[in-house]
Amino acid sequence: MKIHIRHLASGLAVLAAVVTIGLWIGLMPISASSGHWRVTSWFLHWVMQNSVQLNAMSVEEPAIVDDPVLVRRAAGHFEASCRFCHGAPGKATGPVPYQMTPAPPGLDNSAHAWAPAELFTIVKHGVKFSGMPAWPAPPRDDEVWAMVAFLRALPDMDEAGYDRLRGAAAPGAAGEAGAAGTTNPVLAGCVACHGIDGGSDGGAFPVIGGQSADYLATSLAAYRDGRRASGIMQLAASGLSDDEIARLARHYAGQRPQQPAQPAAAPDDIRRQITDRGGAIAAEGLPDQRVPACGSCHGGVAVDGAITQPRPGFPRLTGQDRPYLETQLHLWRAGARGGGSHAHLMARAAHGLTDADIAAVAAFYADDGNRGTGSSASR
Ligand code: HEC
Ligand code: HEC
Ligand code: HEC
Repeated sequence: MKIHIRHLASGLAVLAAVVTIGLWIGLMPISASSGHWRVTSWFLHWVMQNSVQLNAMSVEEPAIVDDPVLVRRAAGHFEASCRFCHGAPGKATGPVPYQMTPAPPGLDNSAHAWAPAELFTIVKHGVKFSGMPAWPAPPRDDEVWAMVAFLRALPDMDEAGYDRLRGAAAPGAAGEAGAAGTTNPVLAGCVACHGIDGGSDGGAFPVIGGQSADYLATSLAAYRDGRRASGIMQLAASGLSDDEIARLARHYAGQRPQQPAQPAAAPDDIRRQITDRGGAIAAEGLPDQRVPACGSCHGGVAVDGAITQPRPGFPRLTGQDRPYLETQLHLWRAGARGGGSHAHLMARAAHGLTDADIAAVAAFYADDGNRGTGSSASR
């Protein structure tokens, strides 16, 4: 028995040495041009499938996965960062990714092949040994879910629908100039998502039109320099020069977008109740929870019959999209939202907010613009 084990051990040692020498002198074929053996492809995909399924078990799905607003939010980003490898409706993959091993698959069938939590796992973490990248902003699960919503809508999309969703036809988008458009190619890139006037397009994007130029420029630089996490905006802002940032900020600061009325999220009476609590937080803060009055920095509350303005360079929250405000407040509270040199003030302000406070104050500011009244008037 002892002799057998010794033989086995020396056999394994010789095998390991042969393999190592083989790898050392370069006998292992790593050329993508030769493709995989069929068994290697099968093995890698089998391993990937098992790993994705296991990891997806701990993923919590949001209440609503298939929200058209999320599909719109992710579509422009798909065009900018995924289409190159995976193609899109009516648009084939270019010749270069086709030479990858494995070649990136078309995604028409992925929504059927994978459950939402599995798609989430693939898009958030990427796939090793394949070239499929991870989501560039780790704290932004909300953005990954937007991409999942997009992938699930993909099988039913034709080329025209895809182009509409990614904003190619937005007035003023790339290639179109004139009254509603722009001849500035950098701005044209923004227009696909933010429109020429910086409106929210039904809540797909934050309202940026009419925000102060200082805040807009600070935010763009924060995305560009990696101080504010967003897979979508970090890509859109990468490569902007300080000059371009200043021009873009001036353009959107000068806009007055027409906001569509917020759809009522709850029956009127409940809504009023929530709204009033939010108004109190905005106007007075929550001293017991060490939450300062939001209005002291962000304005939007009634003082002596007039609505206050935000402090210079601080963002205006009035009329902002409600889910956007909620998402940002959750990020602030979790320590996952960066920004400019005043960001620490906001991190402190968000620390003591509960989920219910966040919902209430977001509802207050989102609705505030439509009601045209401040908190004191509504209480
Ligand atoms: C550099 C090329 C590349 C880019 C860019 C890329 N992918 Fe992939 N992706 C791949 C490759 C290669 C695979 C195959 C992985 C495997 O099967 O092991 C893949 C697999 C996938 C899958 C699983 C497909 C299936 O049905 O098995 C999904 C979903 C996916 N990618 C979505 C995306 C999204 C969304 C983006 C953009 C955020 C993206 N990919 C960007 C290369 C890429
Ligand atoms: C693919 C869609 C897309 C493109 C293109 C895009 N944006 Fe954005 N933008 C977004 C999304 C989504 C957010 C919200 C990001 C977040 O949650 O931090 C955002 C956020 C912003 C913000 C921060 C708003 C705030 O209230 O803090 C600014 C400023 C901004 N974008 C400006 C621009 C400019 C200028 C361009 C063109 C260079 C641009 N964006 C291109 C989708 C896009
Ligand atoms: C001491 C001043 C101050 C107070 C008080 C304050 N904030 Fe802020 N807040 C800021 C600053 C500054 C920023 C922008 C930081 C950055 O991005 O650089 C900000 C950003 C935000 C944003 C993100 C805006 C956007 O467009 O992305 C939200 C949402 C927000 N605050 C909500 C609140 C709420 C709700 C309260 C009250 C509970 C509050 N803030 C209290 C200073 C403050």
